[in-house]
Amino acid sequence: MKHRQWIKAGLVASSLALAAAGSARTSGEATAPAPTPTAHRVSFDKYSFLIDGKRTYLWSGEVHPYRLPSPELWPDIFQKMKAAGFNTASIYFSWGYHSPREGQYDFSGVRNLDKLLDDARDAGIYVIARPGPYINAEVDSGGFPLWLTDKPVKNRSPDPAYLKLADQWMTQIDRILARHQLTDGRGTVIAYQVENEYYNGSPAGREYMQHLENKARADGITVPLVGNHNATFVSGKGAVDVSGWDYYPQGFDCSHPSQWKPAPDMAAHRFAGEPLFTAEFQGGAFDPWGGPGYAKCAQLINDRFANVFYKENIAAGATAQNFYMLFGGTSWGWQAIPQNYTSYDYGAAITEGRQFDPKYYEDKRIGYFLHAVTPITKTNALAAGRVDNPRVVDRARINPDTGTQFHLVRHGDTTASTVEAAHLTLSLKEGSFTVPQQAGTAITIDGRESKLLLADYMLGATRLVYSTSELMTDATVGNRDIAVLYGRHGSDGETLLGFAAQPKVTVLSGTVSQHWGKHGLRLDYRHDGLARVLIDGGQRPLLLLIGDDQATQRVWRQDTPKGSVLMIGSHLLRSAKYDDGTLALTGDGDSDARAEVFAGDASRLTWNGRPLAATHTASGSLAVTLPVPQPITLPKLDHWTRRAGAPEIARNFNDAQWRVANLTTTSSVTKPGTLPVLFADDYGFHTGNTWYRGHFTVDAHHAAPSGLKLKVVSGGKGGAFSAWLNGHFLGSVTRSEIGAFSFPAAMLVPGDNVVSVLTVDMGHEEDYDSTGENRTARGIVSAEPIGADAKAVTWRLQGAITDENPQRGPYNFGGLYGERHEWPIKPGKPADWHPAVLPANTAQPGVTWYRSNVSLALPKGQDTSLGLEITDPPGRHYRAMIFVNGWQMGNYIADLGPQHRFPIPDGIIDPHGKNDITIAVWKTDSSPGGLGTVSLIDYGSYTSPVDVTAIR
Ligand code: GAL
Repeated sequence: MKHRQWIKAGLVASSLALAAAGSARTSGEATAPAPTPTAHRVSFDKYSFLIDGKRTYLWSGEVHPYRLPSPELWPDIFQKMKAAGFNTASIYFSWGYHSPREGQYDFSGVRNLDKLLDDARDAGIYVIARPGPYINAEVDSGGFPLWLTDKPVKNRSPDPAYLKLADQWMTQIDRILARHQLTDGRGTVIAYQVENEYYNGSPAGREYMQHLENKARADGITVPLVGNHNATFVSGKGAVDVSGWDYYPQGFDCSHPSQWKPAPDMAAHRFAGEPLFTAEFQGGAFDPWGGPGYAKCAQLINDRFANVFYKENIAAGATAQNFYMLFGGTSWGWQAIPQNYTSYDYGAAITEGRQFDPKYYEDKRIGYFLHAVTPITKTNALAAGRVDNPRVVDRARINPDTGTQFHLVRHGDTTASTVEAAHLTLSLKEGSFTVPQQAGTAITIDGRESKLLLADYMLGATRLVYSTSELMTDATVGNRDIAVLYGRHGSDGETLLGFAAQPKVTVLSGTVSQHWGKHGLRLDYRHDGLARVLIDGGQRPLLLLIGDDQATQRVWRQDTPKGSVLMIGSHLLRSAKYDDGTLALTGDGDSDARAEVFAGDASRLTWNGRPLAATHTASGSLAVTLPVPQPITLPKLDHWTRRAGAPEIARNFNDAQWRVANLTTTSSVTKPGTLPVLFADDYGFHTGNTWYRGHFTVDAHHAAPSGLKLKVVSGGKGGAFSAWLNGHFLGSVTRSEIGAFSFPAAMLVPGDNVVSVLTVDMGHEEDYDSTGENRTARGIVSAEPIGADAKAVTWRLQGAITDENPQRGPYNFGGLYGERHEWPIKPGKPADWHPAVLPANTAQPGVTWYRSNVSLALPKGQDTSLGLEITDPPGRHYRAMIFVNGWQMGNYIADLGPQHRFPIPDGIIDPHGKNDITIAVWKTDSSPGGLGTVSLIDYGSYTSPVDVTAIR
């Protein structure tokens, strides 16, 4: 049913009303009146979503709480989004992240979703909640819990055995989401996605979707149900309220980052009565083990991509766009799928290390425009204007109420990289104009650029007839209107403003010429730095700030109940709040201390709580000097100790407590090659390494095997296994699943002989096709003794201990000896650790742990984003797991890559205290080598209110 109104009255904190008004005001602000009953509504029609009846363009970015295990940094991400004009975050919730065992759920510590949703609300960010139960997301099992690998159910189907388990999760997560709904909760959840990319429109598929929808409603979900199922659940059983599109026009191979595929025309994908919603549109790409690296993905999905593709969606009429990912984060622990490595940077607008990619600024220019120019939320297609260059086209829309026109001027071929000049003929209220009018100038479309031009629009009290500059934002600040126009550096610009009588024009800076004519005031200029023009003569003075693209990067806007605040300068403006004549600003400062603030009445300014001395400028702003960050020096990591980490290879190691491999049936979709079943998951070992020990007897009655043929499945390209006989290294297998080892007679001993096999589970497959792929076997699939019966060898196995560390959860530790004994947290006696020098240079294959302790005393009041880097001489064959203060933040494969740098979020690392760095190294061959050089790196440091307490 469409056009449904989602009304439910309830007691709602006053902060919600502010969030609903699109304000950046945070809860707790103001001497708050007692909460009053406020009914909030989320509705939609064919044009847009409406919040409390107000049309709202959803400019949204995807973020995943399970990829940032530092709750105190969640506000940082939401504030950075808000500062770039985003008003919505789309958030997956990963079932497996919260459920270490069947029936057990954890929403505490780094898994505290109440905090997450409060943080979104406090930053003025709406939430599209995406709880699955299946989410895909390049996360282990597509978000299914690890324990589901032992359940032979038909995932993502109406199989009652599966639904019973899925409902356990839905009950848990829905309870949290329900209490954070905008409609009747304490938060800003405005939509709820059912399942993920579910394209199964069969009767069974529909029954499944309908079940989830009924469950959500029964659990108190009152906001619209949405989907990213493309055209699958638009009508009929299981239909969602608003269907959304899932689109990645450039795909996921980042190795040729300058080759583009064309932009899709999303206008062809409209559904009657619904707004055009891109539930997932490409914001970057994931990168596989051995891949080209995220720098290449950032290049493929760069600021030009955002410029051309996101504006194309606007021209197609989309009024809700979500970008996947906006901040990718880290698939820490063993959360990654087998294909992907630890970083989930994604080449996104906010990097894994929380820095700004150039795309952030493009997202911001567009986001500010969409926020300011509200007529964009209700538009119909309009006949294109005439363009005098055959390689350039116009795509136009008009708001039927205000007559505001939007013209997307772009290359006919969205992949073109030529520079084109064109003139566009506009039919406006004032008549027909071919623009620019000024002789010898043109609209320049750079390679891979498009311009979203505006006409017949009210810039506050002044009529904008047209501009060949793009509008970034406009606002009434104090007693005048301010508008920011921009264009690429060096390009021509022309703006026509309607005035009844000739206004007074003062060019405060830059070169801008003026022409008074029958249609009003025309300004001609070239985009270069930041020009300022003050125009007096309308109802309110208008200050035009005309910038080049570079200059717009440092333009920030925040809205408060007492009006908008614009700032030029600073690395980031996080918040603005009026308090008794004081304008309190928070934000981040870099080495450029100059800034100016355009604000209403404010007798005092503060920046991160400290008073700022201000002087009045000719532009009517307050000029201030911001504190600059202190330089950062990071200590060298040169005090290392080491500890041998594979006692399991010794013949006489005591494995009496290990699980005996005795199963003859399996829940896996993989057929065992030999019996008993040796799959790690069937024995409850779901993450990282699992050890196997095969015993056989050599005596007069037993024919000793002369070797062993193994098939071991790790998943993905990064797999490996190593084998030892009675403590002697037999060899390792990488990039293959098959290994045959012969047993040299000299290694055999009378009596009990032991072959030890170290395996690794690189993550479970997603179950995209609902074929039980998450139950693909991991570990030994077949073990065939050579020259002896299979029964000659009896196996025991030991892997990760699931309940070991609830704070860090089910993905943190695998089954190495040092993990089973929690060495990264409890390193044991100092005497167990021996001095070591990096880069290591040992021939011995096997497992060695390295430890270093580092005290950091980085400047306070400064947000420094840190990471660890491993550098190796070429030709090293080893793998490493990096633990920082007990948190597994990186999986490294020296001879596969590409990841060498591992961002470590503050909170996990303590910038103001002692840190333990523990690295488990599995050396797979006997050539000289081992762990390379390990160093701390700094991704960026700014003066900032962000100050994170270490998680202990
Ligand atoms: C989408 C899917 C996401 C993620 C993405 C690629 O289609 O819904 O979960 O897998 O592809 O990163």
